[in-house]
Amino acid sequence: MKFQILTLFPELFPGPLGHSITGRALDKKLWSFEAKNIRDVASDNHKTVDDVPFGGGAGMVMKPDIVEKALLSFPSAGRKIYMSPRGTPLTQNLVKELATEETLTILCGRYEGVDQRVLDAYNFEEISIGDYVLTGGEMAAHILMDATIRLLPNVLGNDTTPYEESFSNGLLEYPHYTRPALWTDANGATHPVPDILTSGHHANIAKWRHEQSMELTKARRPDLLEK
Ligand code: ADE
Repeated sequence: MKFQILTLFPELFPGPLGHSITGRALDKKLWSFEAKNIRDVASDNHKTVDDVPFGGGAGMVMKPDIVEKALLSFPSAGRKIYMSPRGTPLTQNLVKELATEETLTILCGRYEGVDQRVLDAYNFEEISIGDYVLTGGEMAAHILMDATIRLLPNVLGNDTTPYEESFSNGLLEYPHYTRPALWTDANGATHPVPDILTSGHHANIAKWRHEQSMELTKARRPDLLEK
């Protein structure tokens, strides 16, 4: 899969995605990216990419002609995404869909935003990573890319398949425990792991985990159960 990123800060890529699982997947060419500096297509002496908003108000707006020129510098765009707090919420279902695409072009805004006309003219899909406002779309793009890359074939090794994790079955994931079976903390308090997990009874363990998932989801994210 190829990610084409339109940004004023191309040096932010691959950024965190160059490390750990996503970094190894990049080395193995399981995904690739091209980060294009939008400023490179500005032709005036000042390399202007933004201007004041029509109608007044705070901040600057990225110019439609500049964004268009940067977009058209890619031979083909694939699915076009604009990272924005106004967008459709990014969910695991949407991530699964994105992971089937060959090319994603991701526009990262800075300033107040991007002129609406270029978003409309080129059918950019707006996607939000949550109900809070970042200073720019780049970190939101990192999150969308990370969630997508880990679903690509051969990215997660061996049996770390993303089947049982949070959201893939509509529930939050059950809690995990490892050795020691009895842990004594720095204050002298002892913490055993739940007995069921050392019982060796796989059917009961599966049932217990499902119950834990249900309880956690009910307590923390009742909205997921309604869906
Ligand atoms: N850009 C700024 N805030 C954002 C958010 N919450 N999601 C996606 N892109 C953004």
